[in-house]
Amino acid sequence: MTAGPGGLSSKHGPALDLPGRFMILAMVMLAAVAVASPVAYPLLLDGFYAPRLLAFVHLNTLGVIAAILLGASSQLIPVVLQTPLASVSLGRISFWFFIAGILFFLPGILVTWRPGLVLGAALAFAGMVLYVAVVVLTLRSAPHLDVVSWHITLALAGLVGGLVVGLLLAVSKGTAALGASIFRILAAHATLMLAAWVVVMLNGVAYRLVGMFTLSEDQLWHRTAWAELFFSAGGAWLLAGGLLADAPRTVLGAGALAILFGQLPFGAQLLHLYHVRRRRGFDIHIPYVLTAIACGLLASLLLVVGFVDGRSMNSSLWVAIGWLAIGGIAISAIQGFFYKIATFLVWLHRYAPVAGRTRVPRLEDLYDRRLAKTGWIFWVGAQAGSLAAIFLSNRSLATAAGIAALAGLGCFLVNVARMAAHVWPAMTTTQDAVHGGVPRIGKEGRIS
Ligand code: HEM
Repeated sequence: MTAGPGGLSSKHGPALDLPGRFMILAMVMLAAVAVASPVAYPLLLDGFYAPRLLAFVHLNTLGVIAAILLGASSQLIPVVLQTPLASVSLGRISFWFFIAGILFFLPGILVTWRPGLVLGAALAFAGMVLYVAVVVLTLRSAPHLDVVSWHITLALAGLVGGLVVGLLLAVSKGTAALGASIFRILAAHATLMLAAWVVVMLNGVAYRLVGMFTLSEDQLWHRTAWAELFFSAGGAWLLAGGLLADAPRTVLGAGALAILFGQLPFGAQLLHLYHVRRRRGFDIHIPYVLTAIACGLLASLLLVVGFVDGRSMNSSLWVAIGWLAIGGIAISAIQGFFYKIATFLVWLHRYAPVAGRTRVPRLEDLYDRRLAKTGWIFWVGAQAGSLAAIFLSNRSLATAAGIAALAGLGCFLVNVARMAAHVWPAMTTTQDAVHGGVPRIGKEGRIS
């Protein structure tokens, strides 16, 4: 992973406190998700409308996924677009609206406390719209837009759509305002947030990150990436638009099929990049990303089955699809990429200034690799177990899956704490951190 064009940090990157604060928030929320998992996973069997499940869903989606995407993209977007972020201070302000929003919204949706829910929704909405404004202004000053930048652009449109529908749901919560259309509107909100924003953003960012991590950026199949974008974004908007317009099942099924047609080339592209990768060693982000690909394919296939079969609104299939998207795709990919992005930012902050003058650790020395592998095994077990529990409606299996999730996320968070310990010199001396050879930074900032 290099510093400068093509690397994770460049002269355009913002001050590290901006991505840092969002990532710290996401890790605190992930710890809450881990602790809650043994009790929360059985809620997946109680139907998608239960307030406690809605709260757990948003602890994951707003607290972890949104926080990470807002933080990591504020670091990555200037690199992708080769232009500085339009406003770092607006980015910082968006953080305070966002965190205040979460602190009111989550308890509000947990106990259906309308003032907290509406105030929280409005604050989180404002924080995320500020973030969108900063990125749109940055996109406007970009020298040119490539396939990754267009993923980011279309993903932002999905986020804005998801936010507007989410705010509508929050404001009308506990009233009869939306009447019988409430479930279609809820499904449209979930589709815009998960399929039109999160998946499109992660797919685009994955092309750049995996290319960087494996030194195979020049091997990207561009036409395949454009085709994937067409189907992923087009399918998500067709499905969400169809749900909002109460369109016939064939239209919804066509949207689901297009989403599947987006997942297939995405999976093929990443397998291709890993196949031609120049950095051949084992890398912990790879099993996590492969898990995300497998869950993406399964979720979109089940989505097609659901509409072709005409499954009823109360079918557990929809809960399985939603959870595969949240846990299986997003949280898996986030853990994998976090191992790479966080170690790089920590290394940049602590060791780059002294590299070449003293021995410094390699990136992969900043965490325990065996613990990382153990964490992945427990996490995959938790996803498979929760899926089986939903379809078998088996509460003890769901609890066991929740315990596996606690163990898996626990391993990951212990490694995050290890990485964080490198940020504070008092906690680790350079010598402590050095295990293997003496990495040096060469002229182009390449680490060898
Ligand atoms: C400001 C941000 C957000 C607001 C105001 C919001 C609001 C809501 C509300 C009010 C509901 C429940 C509807 C009801 O009970 O009538 C809901 C459901 C849902 N939201 Fe959000 N949401 C937000 C962000 C997100 C994000 C970022 C995601 C995903 C990335 C997401 C995914 C979902 C899902 C999957 C459901 C359905 C959950 C279930 O049925 O169990 N939301 N949202």
